[in-house]
Amino acid sequence: MKKFAPILTMATAITLSLSHTAMATVLTAPTELKVGPLLTDPLGYSEQVPQFSWKLPDDLPGLHQSAYQIVCASTLEKLTTEPDLWDSGWVNSSQSLFVDYEGRPLQSRERLYWRVRYKNSTGIPSEWSDPAALEMSLLERDDWQAQWIFLPEEKPEESPPAPFLRKEFSLKDKPIRTARLYASARGIYEMHVNGVRVGDDYFQPEWTDYTRRSLFVTYDVTNLLHPKTNAIGSILGEMWYAGKMGYASANNLYGDTPQLLAQLEVTYADGERQVIVTDESWKAARGPITFANIYDGERYDARLEFGSWSSPGFDDSAWEKVTAAPIEADIILSPRPNQPVRAIMEIRPKSVKQIGPGAYIFDIGQNMVGWARIKVPGARDHTYTLRFAEMLQDDGSLYTANYRTAESTDTYTCRGDAIEVWEPRLTFHGFRYVELSGVPDGLEPTEDWVTAVVLHNEMPPTGSFKSSHSMLNQLQSNIQWGQRGNFLAVPTDCPQRDERLGWTGDAQVFVSTANYNFDTLAFFVKWCADMRDSQHSSGSIPFFIPSFVGYEARTSTAWGDAAVIVPWEVYQSFGYRRILEDNYRMMCEWVRHYEEHEETKDYIHSGFTFGDWLQPYTTHKSGTFGDTDTALIGTAYFARCADLLARSAAVLGKDDDARRYRELFQNIRTAFQNRFFDDDGRVTTTIETQTSYLLAIGFDLIDDQLKEKALQHLVRHIEDVASGHLRTGFVGTPLIAPVLSNQGRVDLAYDILFRTTYPGWFYSIEQGATTMWERWNSYSKEEGFGAVSMNSFNHYAYGAIGEWLYETVAGMSLVEPGYKRIRFNPAPGGPLTMAEARLETPYGTASSRWERIGDHLLLHVTVPPNTTGEVVLHDAVQILDPGGHTFTLPAN
Ligand code: BGC
Repeated sequence: MKKFAPILTMATAITLSLSHTAMATVLTAPTELKVGPLLTDPLGYSEQVPQFSWKLPDDLPGLHQSAYQIVCASTLEKLTTEPDLWDSGWVNSSQSLFVDYEGRPLQSRERLYWRVRYKNSTGIPSEWSDPAALEMSLLERDDWQAQWIFLPEEKPEESPPAPFLRKEFSLKDKPIRTARLYASARGIYEMHVNGVRVGDDYFQPEWTDYTRRSLFVTYDVTNLLHPKTNAIGSILGEMWYAGKMGYASANNLYGDTPQLLAQLEVTYADGERQVIVTDESWKAARGPITFANIYDGERYDARLEFGSWSSPGFDDSAWEKVTAAPIEADIILSPRPNQPVRAIMEIRPKSVKQIGPGAYIFDIGQNMVGWARIKVPGARDHTYTLRFAEMLQDDGSLYTANYRTAESTDTYTCRGDAIEVWEPRLTFHGFRYVELSGVPDGLEPTEDWVTAVVLHNEMPPTGSFKSSHSMLNQLQSNIQWGQRGNFLAVPTDCPQRDERLGWTGDAQVFVSTANYNFDTLAFFVKWCADMRDSQHSSGSIPFFIPSFVGYEARTSTAWGDAAVIVPWEVYQSFGYRRILEDNYRMMCEWVRHYEEHEETKDYIHSGFTFGDWLQPYTTHKSGTFGDTDTALIGTAYFARCADLLARSAAVLGKDDDARRYRELFQNIRTAFQNRFFDDDGRVTTTIETQTSYLLAIGFDLIDDQLKEKALQHLVRHIEDVASGHLRTGFVGTPLIAPVLSNQGRVDLAYDILFRTTYPGWFYSIEQGATTMWERWNSYSKEEGFGAVSMNSFNHYAYGAIGEWLYETVAGMSLVEPGYKRIRFNPAPGGPLTMAEARLETPYGTASSRWERIGDHLLLHVTVPPNTTGEVVLHDAVQILDPGGHTFTLPAN
């Protein structure tokens, strides 16, 4: 939702402070060199045409790029002397993002070093940047000699102990230049070389639709190898592949037992390459991880530890032989394109309280996702049990009913050391509270017995929002924690109960907000590939991505539309055109699905939808689907997708397609208006809902004069029917504040946002929320817990308001993709006296801060280098150069 309403309309004197680029003969070098979807020095990169991005220094006000030069070489030495792969020469262009490589095609394993320099608008060149690098992964199927290996298991009822796998091998006694480990699993692996864990990532290689694709990861293991005898090992987890997953009753969704595929390539200094692969020469055994799956937790018996099982010399004579199977021809193996899941931060509990004999509850103070590391006194054979919860019951015990069948319980049996430290690795939990039971009599645990470890995909934090209002700041924090908790391999609906699926509807409403808070580009690149993999031949997009057996053809409007909306919004936020190129076919197919659907008649689509999911006070018999007419939602989203597809086609230069989809949009729009609205701008469906008006206005589906009338009905509904509150679910909620503010009623948007009564954002904050909740009343002090069948305390969908905080409250929004042109147009309102947002755009730092000081408003904005700013003053747009600018305005 972009906003163009002028806000700062008071007559005023404007102070403009802008210093000009100092005269220099050579400018400061570019920084933050990135490859592809903004990756730093990627290892295991696969795009045949790499793209290069860089930032211009932000300490030279007014800096625009007029030309760039990129050089690429096969070695670091050649980069400065004779760049042998590509020299772009000086190219007159302001483009500093996603510049295509034009050298010769790169081969598997090939390394490329690059650097870049630029000229400013007066032609002064910069220093060369520091060098950056990329290394290609295995690009061809023929590169693979490894086989899938596993311990056979036939549809086990309960998760069996996790397999440990190992192999010893000899290297030649000569210097090694590099060693790379390429690893994949169906399920997840933890790789070891010579007794050392490889990498610092978890849950690799992350979830895909294994019937179509598996990812693999490249590691630099050069420093882990020894001369002569070496060992390699792996621990496998079922996770998304073979364990309990999907829903409570579903076991072994994709396969019966986890599998490993690994290839270690050692290149000696003389160029010789030696390859060690997974095959039937590996051995395996089941050991201390006696049970593990995603929902139920992990059980670890330290008495069963193998010792130095992944080091050379270990006696594996009692270990079994593995079974090996070739890589199937029809399964895609591709390098993981995104940053991995990592342990991002650790939190110390705020308090610990005894809850029963030997049982203590640790309060982490923040609902989060990851696991608990324990540091406990060990006594051989003694077992500690860890249970988790997002909330406590009135009596102080854990509230776990909302986990449904997910047991979410870890156990640890001690080996008998004085102090033992343990954390799981093949499961994760969503929790704020940790219950540790089995504490021996006479011991009093202290806070340092438990450390909470936060896990999610690495995505550099890029955005921040602050204001003078503590509840609004808490809302921003809740939104960001909702994102941290649910960006784990795929964007999930919730991270704690027996679900944790990549629900499409949730992701499409949240994507723009997500893009403000963190650099999500590579994360969504990966998830869009997952969507492509799971798209049904009819063009339909399954409810959740990756999909699994039984759900391939089931879709919902406002959910499957993620196929169009996510690539479009990601393109907007990062300027990454390739996400449109890569997904264009999928986007067209989804629109074809609408066009050819048996429930599309005369442009009105009435196919299945979950509706305005969880709308409060719904009269729908399901209790969850909301009151908004199914066909109105379906047709609105059909139109929205046609509209965004027409725009995408235009970006890609597909003019015929752009015309065709523009016309389709117009036809759907006309049908929508005729079918659902009368001449008075009132919705004609049986039940009048806020969401009907919000979709019509927000998606531009009715004529402008009718919009004004529809707005009056919306306002009447909000004020009279809903006593000044929202009455919206997943579909309507993201639209309410942007639509009201775009239509000149920012005052009402603030009123709704700042209400502390049900339903609304601040209501859950008043009830103690530290994350976004699935329902406005997932819990209340008066009425206790909401309907237990679906009651997540970590569900980001209603966090979609975050975009409005950046764009309207702080007043910073993009005009051109990637923020090449950025607009400042804050809308001070409500009880706020200050609001501030910062965003690390792909070009550099942007910020907008306003503050009421006496009868003035002080506005300070920062325009990133190599972009153009616009500030809206007195209804007029003033153009700004890169750098900081301050304006003083009378406040009304
Ligand atoms: C999920 C939602 C999802 C919905 C579909 C729920 O179980 O948690 O977030 O979008 O199903 O209606």
